[in-house]
Amino acid sequence: MRIRLSLYRRTPFLSFSLYGLLWWTAYVWSWKTKEVRFPFCPRQNDKKMMSTEAKPFLKWAGGKGQLLSQLDEHLPEVLQNHEFIYIEPFVGGGAMLFHMLRQFPNITHAVINDINPHLVTAYRVIKEQPGQLINRLSALEQEYFSQPDEEAKREYFLNVRNIFNEVELDDIDRTKYLMFLNRTCFNGLYRVNGKGKFNVPFGRNLHPTICNADTILADSEALNRADVTILNGDFERTADEMRDGLNFFYFDPPYRPLNATSSFNSYVKEEFNDDEQTRLRDFCARLNEQTNVRWMLSNSDCSAKNPEDTFFEDIYADFNIHRVYASRAINANPSKRGKLTELLIKNYE
Ligand SMILES: C[S@@+](CC[C@H](N)C(=O)[O-])C[C@H]1O[C@@H](n2cnc3c(N)ncnc32)[C@H](O)[C@@H]1O
Repeated sequence: MRIRLSLYRRTPFLSFSLYGLLWWTAYVWSWKTKEVRFPFCPRQNDKKMMSTEAKPFLKWAGGKGQLLSQLDEHLPEVLQNHEFIYIEPFVGGGAMLFHMLRQFPNITHAVINDINPHLVTAYRVIKEQPGQLINRLSALEQEYFSQPDEEAKREYFLNVRNIFNEVELDDIDRTKYLMFLNRTCFNGLYRVNGKGKFNVPFGRNLHPTICNADTILADSEALNRADVTILNGDFERTADEMRDGLNFFYFDPPYRPLNATSSFNSYVKEEFNDDEQTRLRDFCARLNEQTNVRWMLSNSDCSAKNPEDTFFEDIYADFNIHRVYASRAINANPSKRGKLTELLIKNYE
């Protein structure tokens, strides 16, 4: 020991580099395991931070989580070995967005858009102010959990819903309440009435995870890493965001109802009717005229339900139409899969 210490004293460079090596090992280890302590979140600091990947921070009707592997099979091959811009004009809960950001480090820039202003605010807050959001959301979560019984929790939920609908809020509080309502309302739905007010009832889920700090931080990092531009408006705006090089669009618009009563379509008060579906097709047809654009679009498979309803086959006759199995229909035995398919329409082979 004495020999070693004296060796270090005599060779400061050696001791410096050993110290540096130790420091780097610890740093890389903490990065890999995400064992960093987050100064703002008391709950988070109680436990080891888990290694979490970027994923949707809200439950959103029409989420693509269950379809991702099938969507993967239909992506253009060129994405594997070229840098590209990723554009998602109807981002919703972002299952495909976060999946793409995880899978493709060669995305040089991404653009997301949604017409729902509160949803877009949430993406911006998560990108730019994740720490403050975690602070406020975990405080709200603790207050909710401290309510003595189901009735008190229901009252608390209704009060938050009222604040969300009626009060001017800063962006962080707006996002905090959106995430709270999403976790505690019935079925994690986001639905508004004709006046644009959130109207989903209490979900009786008494112990939901409301503040998932790991996910918020992972999402924030992913949104910053890919330099994601976040827009609020109509899908057509995204055309202005294309850049030189390859642009890949993924469209997941509100689905066309399979019948008059079946489908959920109330993300915003404006209806996405057949005229809107046709306007979207026109937009896709214009994009198709540009050589550096590939696009893929999901929608409901209306003709599987009613063979006479060939709306999509007609309006997308110039493009490639495929069918994928929706989650509920997935069965190891293809003969038992039934007809719960969705359409995937592409402007490439
Ligand atoms: C089916 S959801 C998207 C689901 C999402 N891809 C996911 O995985 O969770 C459709 C989204 O389109 C948005 N939307 C509706 N009309 C729109 C429009 N004209 N322009 C842009 N977004 C619109 C809705 O707010 C909703 O979030």
